[in-house]
Formats: sequence, C-alpha cells, structure tokens
Amino acid sequence: MSRRPIVGGNWKTNPEKVADLESKIANINACDTTNCDVYVCPSPLHMGLVYDKFTKGAKVTPQNCNFKGCGAYTGEMAADQFASMGIEWCLIGHSERRGEFGLPTPAESSDLLATKLAYLLEKGIKCVLAIGEPLPVREKGVEAVLAFCIEQLKPCLPHLDAAKVVIAYEPVWSIGTGVTATPAQAQETHKAIRDWIAKEKSAECAAAIRIQYGGSANAKNAPELSACPDIDGFLVGGASLKPEFAEIVAAIAKAKMPLSAQFEAVYKKSGLVPHPTIKGALATPATVLTRRFDEQYKKSGLVAHPTIKGAFVVSDAAWRDASPAGSAMAAVRASRPGSAKPEKA
Ligand code: PGA
Repeated sequence: MSRRPIVGGNWKTNPEKVADLESKIANINACDTTNCDVYVCPSPLHMGLVYDKFTKGAKVTPQNCNFKGCGAYTGEMAADQFASMGIEWCLIGHSERRGEFGLPTPAESSDLLATKLAYLLEKGIKCVLAIGEPLPVREKGVEAVLAFCIEQLKPCLPHLDAAKVVIAYEPVWSIGTGVTATPAQAQETHKAIRDWIAKEKSAECAAAIRIQYGGSANAKNAPELSACPDIDGFLVGGASLKPEFAEIVAAIAKAKMPLSAQFEAVYKKSGLVPHPTIKGALATPATVLTRRFDEQYKKSGLVAHPTIKGAFVVSDAAWRDASPAGSAMAAVRASRPGSAKPEKA
C-alpha cells in the first residue's frame, strides 16, 4: 500500500526574533508539496503572525492543545481557536512535553495525551502523535524499545485512525543531538510499531497509517532513511529552520513516488508517445515522424497515388518536366473537359 509521505518542521521555541520569521517561512514555502504533505509547527507565540503565510500548502500545526476548549485556561491553546484560524492539524506528545524538558515541569502522561487525541479528533482536528524511548531503554534493545512505545500508544489505540492520525517515532536520544537512528534501527522500530497496530487494531489501519521518523533528520541522512519501507516521513527540528528542509521533503517525495508517477516523470522527459497500434508500447512521437516525412516528401516531388492508399507516384509536373512523353500526356489530360487548366511549362 502506498502512503503519501509527510514531513513536519517543528520550530519549537524558535526563532528568537520576529525579524527572522520571514526567512523561516521562506524555507517552508520552498518545499515542493506535489508528492509530499508538509506541516510546520511555529512557536505558540509566533503562531498568529505566521499562520496565513504558507503558500505551498504546508499545514500550520500547533505544538500543543488543551482538552477543554476556550475559557479560563491560562497559557493554553484550544481546538476551537484552531478551527477559526483554518488550522487542521495539531502535534501532541512530543518528548519535550512528555517530561524531557530537562526542567522540573510536570510531564504529560500517555493517558493525558490519549484524552487530548480523542478531544482533538472530536473537534475535527487531525493529530501528529509523537512517541519515542530515552537512551537507557534503547540500550536494552529493540524489545524494550517496542514495549516502551506500546505503553505510550496503548491508551491512544481506540483513536488511531489512519486518515486523521500520524505517528511520529522520535527516539529521545536522537533529538537535537546529531545522533540519528540508523536506517536499520528506525526501520526495525517502525515495522514493529506497524505490526503491533495490525495485531491490536486492524491490518487496514496498520497498512495505511503514516509513521514519521524524528531525531536529527537532515538533508544528508534523509535519502537513506526515506528508502526504508516503513518510514513515511520526518518530523524535523533543527533542520526545519534551515533551507535544507526543502531537500528533506524532496528526498522522501522522490523515494516514495508511486511507480506510475515515477514513470510519468521519465516518460515526460523522453518525448515518447504511445505506439499507435501496439498497446503498451512506446514510439517516437508521430509529430517527429511526420515532420521528417513532410520534409522528404516536399523535396521528392512525389504526390499521393490517386487510387492506391499510402502509395506515392511521380507528380505530373515532375514527370512532364523529365520526359517529353510525360509533357505530351499531361497536355492531353489537361485538355479533357472538366480537367484543371494545364500548368504553365
Ligand atoms: P531534531 O528535533 O530534528 O532537532 O533532532 C526533532 C524533533 O524534536 O521533533
């Protein structure tokens, strides 16, 4: 099953200066979104300044949301406010909200995130749900990683809907560290998550749900990670603030391009056309052939045979000019009633 790739740019609490927003917006607007969904998570403070500035279809995706709506919720954002700004997506569960701030900030639990997920979906907002293990868990091996991710996903299971939820697998140890999971590590984990969804939810949901990789993704490692069959995109932090973000989008769009689209691209470049009679075969365009033929034809002095379709004969003028008999016969023919006037010799 082909899944449309999706790449998100998480600006976190960046940039510092309002004056820098323009260049950050330009990085997002430089992305070709023809074959890849793109979303961007501006900092909550800048949201109102930028939410209508994305011209290539990138979806503005807040980094958090409450689960109560508008009202007396200091420091929060509400889904109803999103809707009135045309915002369709929200990111929840980023490890920096699950207690990886490095500050004694209360962590968001998986149960709380399941509540948020259900609430957002009910409000018609689609969700990117981030999960991922810290280093000590990774060091125990893939079984432990999977068990950790499953604990995070379990409360959300009833709400997993491939059309409305994207999972972002982000190993905490690779976020902002420059240490990317190897393609083998990422693929193994993505596949294990997908297999678990197939077993616990449904094969259809598992086949259709998109799982992004996050953690020091950049233009350099994106092509190799994109080649992994269970990686459907990236959630990008640092590199989403740089021009290379567009290269990450291009890398996965290219890797996941459906076969027919890939064929279309080559086909368009080739200048070939469908063969007029052999189904499925390609031929040099008829226009090239006819153009070449026309040139030869004009030079040859031949004319279409009056009765045998597709055959050619020496034209009257050519024949007449070349032989006395021809010119005599042409004169006779021209003198017959109803015939065209003889051409001047
Ligand atoms: P990074 O961040 O790309 O800077 O590692 C990813 C994320 O936190 O979503």
